[in-house]
Amino acid sequence: MLNRLFPAAASTYAGDVDALYFFLIAVSAFFTILIATLVAVFAVRYRRRHADEVGAGITGSHSLELLWTIIPLGITMVMFFWGASVYFEIYRVPRGAMEIYITGKQWMWKAQHPDGRREINELHVPVGRAVKLIMGSEDVIHSFFVPAFRMKMDVVPGKLTNVWFQATKAGRYHLFCAEYCGTSHSGMIGSIVAMEPADFQAWLAGGAAATEGSPAQQGEKLFADLACNTCHRDDALARGPQLKGAFGHTVQLQDGSTVVMDENYIRESILNPQAKIVAGFQPLMPTYQGVASEEQILQLISYIRSLASVQAPAPAAPPSGQPSPVTK
Ligand code: CUA
Repeated sequence: MLNRLFPAAASTYAGDVDALYFFLIAVSAFFTILIATLVAVFAVRYRRRHADEVGAGITGSHSLELLWTIIPLGITMVMFFWGASVYFEIYRVPRGAMEIYITGKQWMWKAQHPDGRREINELHVPVGRAVKLIMGSEDVIHSFFVPAFRMKMDVVPGKLTNVWFQATKAGRYHLFCAEYCGTSHSGMIGSIVAMEPADFQAWLAGGAAATEGSPAQQGEKLFADLACNTCHRDDALARGPQLKGAFGHTVQLQDGSTVVMDENYIRESILNPQAKIVAGFQPLMPTYQGVASEEQILQLISYIRSLASVQAPAPAAPPSGQPSPVTK
């Protein structure tokens, strides 16, 4: 019967989510039944029998008060720590996950694979491999919901969100938008197709593959088209920070604070460059709001990520008037 009530469990953490869920239901059901039964029993047993009957005076009991404070506290702490451990399992993306870019817009899901292959309202993934989704929205809040994976993550305009999963069973699973996003919200649905690794490779190879290149390659082209490379460059003429080898590292800002260069930092720096100026640079960069689309921003991020493993060149000669940074 549970099979009919419950969607298939097809991700590595689906079982953990279900176990926690059943525990919550069991605790809730136990107390609901206990309290409802006691209400009924007491109502009958201690009912008023004569018109002049007066209730007994009760002064309270410390041991009873302690008992019904400590037991629920213990139960809720179990829920808290159990829930937190499942939460961290779901929201901490494992290293080496395959990265797929997702863009939500009214009313469709667009996906782009690392090799550049694109899909709409469908996402093919290999079984047995961790997949990280890097998600942005072109317009309003959407929510990427795959019941069979027990996975749901909001896709929010103005920032990027991440989530991961690892499919355990080949099959076709429902993808829903789980956040009301306008007229055709209910039509913003699709499929996740989990395939055996060999089938997935065949699918990747068989598609009208990416003549336009991988997201990183498209990002590299955009980087040149938008003239980003006139400022973010290796030589002494650089007016923007060096991006090679920078992704994932801590950046020193002008106001003395630091920030880790991640997807959201790059996104913010493209759209709102004045927000966090890197120490040693002038606030010269114009905003690319309205110039670069959400998808193009993802491609630029992909390109800058791909530079993470590139060795940064030795510091160029500093702009005139500034002392040379000493490297020992
Ligand atoms: Cu998109 Cu609801």
